Amino acid sequence: MYLFTGKILKNQRLTADIRYLRISAPADFCQQSAPGRFIMLSCNDGLFDPLLKRPFGILNRGENWFEVVIKEVGKGSLQLGEMKEGSLVSGHGPLGNGYPKINSDPDKDNFTPLILVAGGMGIASIASCLLFSSKAGIMANSRVLLYGAANRDELLLLDEIKECAPGIRIETITDDGSSGRQGWVTELLETELQQYPEALVFACGPEPMLINVQQVLRKFSTRGYLSLENRMACGFGVCLGCVQEVAGIDDNGTVESAKVCTQGPVFPADKVIF
Ligand SMILES: Cc1cc2nc3c(=O)[nH]c(=O)nc-3n(C[C@H](O)[C@H](O)[C@H](O)COP(=O)(O)OP(=O)(O)OC[C@H]3O[C@@H](n4cnc5c(N)ncnc54)[C@H](O)[C@@H]3O)c2cc1C
Ligand code: FES
Repeated sequence: MYLFTGKILKNQRLTADIRYLRISAPADFCQQSAPGRFIMLSCNDGLFDPLLKRPFGILNRGENWFEVVIKEVGKGSLQLGEMKEGSLVSGHGPLGNGYPKINSDPDKDNFTPLILVAGGMGIASIASCLLFSSKAGIMANSRVLLYGAANRDELLLLDEIKECAPGIRIETITDDGSSGRQGWVTELLETELQQYPEALVFACGPEPMLINVQQVLRKFSTRGYLSLENRMACGFGVCLGCVQEVAGIDDNGTVESAKVCTQGPVFPADKVIF
């Protein structure tokens, strides 16, 4: 884990309350970043208000920079979203386990097609699988991205994903039907799994969506991983603020609660107890 001061290199508005930030970072931090890992961030203005850094998924990285997408929901995210290019942030990370490495060689027996499922800001975590993938290999497995949002304007990063992963099919759905199809992203998942129950599923989104994803996976006996976004105070295993009830995630099957920041945020879907 690295503690560092980074500079805002780019701050782009995606919607009225969602920002796309590129931030400078040490090369070692960038190298150790991976799809599904996250960073704790705050403004470096010396005021410590709010006191605690906030967690954000690492969307992408280069040699000396990383990117995050931030929805402004409260003081911490608003401050970060409003920062001008050239101003400084404090960061520590990369944190968490990230998505599991999977075989991306289609000629090997254990090659598994992958279905990516994102709801709302969960796209930041899920899109990292595709934006990092030119370097990390998950894209070879990815068949389809199923993406649900409140409305068409909140469907983010589609151009970036199409550019980085031109082969992937993208299915979108919104609460208000403004993207053409109205409903929940789990409806799209059910349709996919009717065809590909042997697929592996990675999902990130609000808890009600993840609960539904878990139910759909059980229905089709499909394996999957859920990336949780529990509230966090420290991000490195000390405060116990992020604990999640789970069913036996260790080798002996005995661990009944897990720190999402250090043992997650990505968990086997059948182990999470909501
Ligand atoms: C591992 C992880 C990765 C995340 N990745 C992203 C990301 O890529 N982009 C992004 O925009 N957000 C992400 N989040 C959520 C983000 O951390 C919170 O929105 C942020 O901490 C809110 O801080 P605040 O000071 O702005 O709001 P606060 O004043 O702390 O809270 C404002 C409102 O937001 C709600 N809230 C706070 N934290 C969360 C949370 N974790 N989940 C749901 N609601 C919350 C509060 O209940 C309250 O209603 C992630 C969270 C985790 C744990
Ligand atoms: S956030 Fe402190 S233990 Fe996880």
